[in-house]
Amino acid sequence: MSRGRILSGMRPTGRLHLGNFVGALENWVRLQDEGWENFHMVADWHMLTTGYEDTSRLQSDIHEMVVDWLAAGIDPKRSVIFVQSAVKEHAELHLLFSMLVSKARLERIPTLKEQIRDLHLDEQTISYGHLGYSVLQAADILLYRATHVPVGEDQVPHVELTREIARRFNFVYCRDRDPVFPEPEPQLTAFPRLRGLDGQRMSKSVGNTILLADSPDVIAARVKQAYTDPKKIRANDPGRPEADPADGHPGCVVWEYHRKFNAANAQDIARRCRAGELACVPDKRDLSGILSAALAPIRERRAKYEADPDLVREIIADGNARAHRVAAETMSKVREAMKLSAPVGERTR
Ligand code: TRP
Repeated sequence: MSRGRILSGMRPTGRLHLGNFVGALENWVRLQDEGWENFHMVADWHMLTTGYEDTSRLQSDIHEMVVDWLAAGIDPKRSVIFVQSAVKEHAELHLLFSMLVSKARLERIPTLKEQIRDLHLDEQTISYGHLGYSVLQAADILLYRATHVPVGEDQVPHVELTREIARRFNFVYCRDRDPVFPEPEPQLTAFPRLRGLDGQRMSKSVGNTILLADSPDVIAARVKQAYTDPKKIRANDPGRPEADPADGHPGCVVWEYHRKFNAANAQDIARRCRAGELACVPDKRDLSGILSAALAPIRERRAKYEADPDLVREIIADGNARAHRVAAETMSKVREAMKLSAPVGERTR
């Protein structure tokens, strides 16, 4: 018996980094091992909302990202890996849901406001599709009648809108029948978002990341550049692992990574740092070794999938077919509840 059904999604950004692992993949693998029914979607249509002009790298980005999912331990036998644009029902459900949501409601979604700010977009030129971002996301989730959505804090408003749409649909169209949709719950990851090596928000475009595909040498070189306490200059100066907001010190990144990947020793490391008994150079060397070891099984699996692109394509094709079966079943319930026509080729009752 499954514990529930998970739908998770990620925009295809190519090779993934440590933050994607800690924030999402690690959690997906745990859910898979705990016996949830997992659907993992590559959100390629969502990618178009902010990057519709240049799609030249879309296919290779999808491929690279799926390789990293598999490398992280997603087992394609137990979990379904599929691509949004291969299952056209996402578009149909998105259209139907778009009738149930007001424009004002969508304009209030904080993620949209943040994107407008961060990407310096003009509110007046936001596309119709971009405004509908979260309606498409609601369709993604409800098409599989998912009960849970593993997401970071920033995605919770989308899941909240999804719940509203499910409730609205069930209320309007299912008065005389069983509700079609469950109201899915967000499932937050336990560890807070990992910062980039420079102490800022982790982002591949900034280059402050460690990629899952990085070799031990690259990892060591990157960790060497990581932000520590700028006031700790000599080896035996006392350091501040924690943030010191009064001084604009956001906390030592190396220690943050120790807390995540070397939890058993993190408190001792902090104590020795504060006491001036631990220098940054050897400490960074230790962390590099720990990260390389943590990523070793991922690197191994990665090599296997990297060497066999046809295998990856087969896994995706199989996932698309499995996803489509569930999606088609949901859509026939939806059309029936809404008194809409069956698609061409499907028998009418
Ligand atoms: N909006 C998500 C992100 O930016 C990606 C996404 C698309 C998603 N559809 C989803 C996440 C459905 C969870 C469920 O990361």
